[in-house]
Amino acid sequence: MKLKTIREAKKLKGARVLLRVDFNVPLKDGKVVDDSRIRASLPTIEFLRKAGAKIILLSHLGRPKGKIVDELRLDPVARKLGEILKCKIKKTDDCVGSEVEKIVEKLEEGDVLLLENTRFHPEEKENNSEFVKQLAKLGDLFVNDAFGVAHRAHASSFGIAEFLPAAAGFLLEKETSELARVFENPAKPLVLVLGGAKIDTKIGVLKKFSELANTILLGGGIANTFLAAEGFEVGESLREPDKADLAREILNLANSHGCEFVLPEDVVCVDSNEELSNQPKTFAFRADAIPPNMKILDIGETTARRFSEIIKKAGMVVWNGPVGLFEIKLFEAGTKAIAQACAETSATTILGGGDTIAALKKFKIPAKKFTHISTGGGAMLEFLEGQELPGIQILKN
Ligand code: 3PG
Repeated sequence: MKLKTIREAKKLKGARVLLRVDFNVPLKDGKVVDDSRIRASLPTIEFLRKAGAKIILLSHLGRPKGKIVDELRLDPVARKLGEILKCKIKKTDDCVGSEVEKIVEKLEEGDVLLLENTRFHPEEKENNSEFVKQLAKLGDLFVNDAFGVAHRAHASSFGIAEFLPAAAGFLLEKETSELARVFENPAKPLVLVLGGAKIDTKIGVLKKFSELANTILLGGGIANTFLAAEGFEVGESLREPDKADLAREILNLANSHGCEFVLPEDVVCVDSNEELSNQPKTFAFRADAIPPNMKILDIGETTARRFSEIIKKAGMVVWNGPVGLFEIKLFEAGTKAIAQACAETSATTILGGGDTIAALKKFKIPAKKFTHISTGGGAMLEFLEGQELPGIQILKN
């Protein structure tokens, strides 16, 4: 079924539009350090302003667990949005209640109001219907642009859509159509590059791509779990021994679908007794010759070269998760090589995940070098598993 979008919305002029955005952005010393998620929703905000709507923004920030956490207030975000839009952004200290209702009543056409972090209320995650009703009465129309939380059936991203006419914003629409390209006859070879520490949130994607992809390239902590499951000594490296059977199951699945599964053949290690902050000596080993006292912190040179070659010959590349501890210069080479290969390939490139985006930023590779950089972490992964995400599904009904 087709996604309803704001293009089809009638009577936006003077309407109170509750716009759910994902302004869950990194903060440092009370300042926004990466405003990409804010900028990603600008097309929707500007469209609504031009149409004369009264815009009431809803967002979460972090995981305050249903309590007020001062460091997770949205004031720095309101300031940043004001700077970008070059206008005053009103901001409330709560997202529901009579004070908020009074401020909403006074809004004029084109005004932008940011409500306080929805997750300060435990009812947000519970999708509590009383809370949903309190939110819903602030608006005439609900627009969801928060792709990053589309996998959560929370009050402000899902529940409201049952109480108000609802539509998707431009970001949600774009994310959905870009990521769907993976399932719509993608240019081959289709290559998945997966890194990061843990396997849990990536099992579904690994299984799906074992069926869909021509090649899966694995690095990071996840690769250690696979190497160990295959009987390699990985020393003191981060790994999940209880996931060995699962890793073997995924390898068999890929094998049965003719998907080439590439694990690192060489790695960069440090002695596990060394402090990482002390610029420790690094060692390069073949993956079948890692001494027991060692800790893997990056893919090796040969692996990085092989991964890059595969990426450059691909038709479509999907990448989520760094393949090493890129935050430390000594272990950035593998992730940097992949980022550069993705930037240079003629393949369609779809990237996502907070750490992947942080790596691109560190390596100063501009976003325009890639086909699509998703604002979703978990949401991107669940979408790519082939799951219907609740926040999107509800807009189709
Ligand atoms: C994200 O950062 O991926 C989204 O904002 C969702 O956050 P969450 O995982 O805390 O729900």
